[in-house]
Amino acid sequence: MAETAPHYVFATDFEREEERLALGERLWDPGTQARLAEVGVGPGTRCLEVGAGRGSIAAWMAGRGAEVTAVDIDTSRLTGLHGVRVRQADVTTDDIGRDYDLVHARLVVQHVADRASAVRWMAAALRPGGHLVLEDTDSTPLFDTADGIMHERVKRAAYAEMTYAGYHPRCGLLDIDLMTAVGLVDVRAEGRAEVVEGGGLNARWFALWLEHLRPAMIARGRVDAAEIDAAVADLATPGHRWLSQVMVTVTGRKVA
Ligand SMILES: C[S@@+](CC[C@H](N)C(=O)[O-])C[C@H]1O[C@@H](n2cnc3c(N)ncnc32)[C@H](O)[C@@H]1O
Repeated sequence: MAETAPHYVFATDFEREEERLALGERLWDPGTQARLAEVGVGPGTRCLEVGAGRGSIAAWMAGRGAEVTAVDIDTSRLTGLHGVRVRQADVTTDDIGRDYDLVHARLVVQHVADRASAVRWMAAALRPGGHLVLEDTDSTPLFDTADGIMHERVKRAAYAEMTYAGYHPRCGLLDIDLMTAVGLVDVRAEGRAEVVEGGGLNARWFALWLEHLRPAMIARGRVDAAEIDAAVADLATPGHRWLSQVMVTVTGRKVA
C-alpha cells in the first residue's frame, strides 16, 4: 500500500493500551532520565513534555523541582500528576508555548507525518540557550537474535502498518537533520538498545505492540492470526533473547 493516511497509529481502541504504555516507560525511562539529568532538570527548570502519554517523564521532572507542562493530543491518561500543568495540543499544528529551558519528546516525532512542523513548533517553544531533546527509534535491529531475525514477516507487517499511518522506521536518525534544519546548534546524538528476555516484562511490551496492531495487520492481509500467535508465544518463552530497537537521543541547543 503506497499511500499514507496520517493519524496516530495507536489511537485505536485497545483495552490494554494503558498497560502497554506503562511497560514502555519501564523499558525506556531509566535511560531517558539519565540523559535529561545530564542536560539539566532541577528546581525552577521550565520543562515542556510533548506527547507525554501517561506522563512518567513529566512526573519525574516535577519530582526534581522543575516547572512542568505536559501536552498531548489525548490528555485522558495525564491525570493525578502532582505539579504538572496539562494541555491538549497537536504538536504539528498548535503553538505549544514559549521560553522553555527544556523541551522533550519521546516516541512522538516518529509517529507524526509532518515531522518538520512538529520540530519547528518545539524549537519555537525554547528560550535562547534552551535545549530540545528528541528520542525516537531506529527499528533496524529489532528482533535480531544470535542466529537471525525472529519473526521477520510479523516485524515487517507491524512496521508497514505503522508506516501507513505516517511513522518512519529510522526516525531516530532523521531527527538529527530535522533539528539542524530549524537552526539548533551543538546537535549531538547517541543510541541505546536493550537486550530483551523472553517471558519478561520488557518482552510483554513487544507482545502488546503486536496485539494492538493485530486487527489492522490482519484486515490489510499483511500476516495471518497464526503468524502473530507464533510471534507472541515466542516473546513469552524464557530462554529467547533478542535486541530491542535503538532508541536514539538527539540533543540540540537554541542559539543564545
Ligand atoms: C508512543 S506514545 C509515547 C508516550 C510517552 N512519550 C512515552 O514515551 O512514554 C506517543 C504519544 O504521543 C501522542 N501524540 C501522537 N501524535 C501527537 C501529536 N500530533 N501531537 C501531540 N501528541 C501526539 C500520543 O497521544 C501518545 O500519547
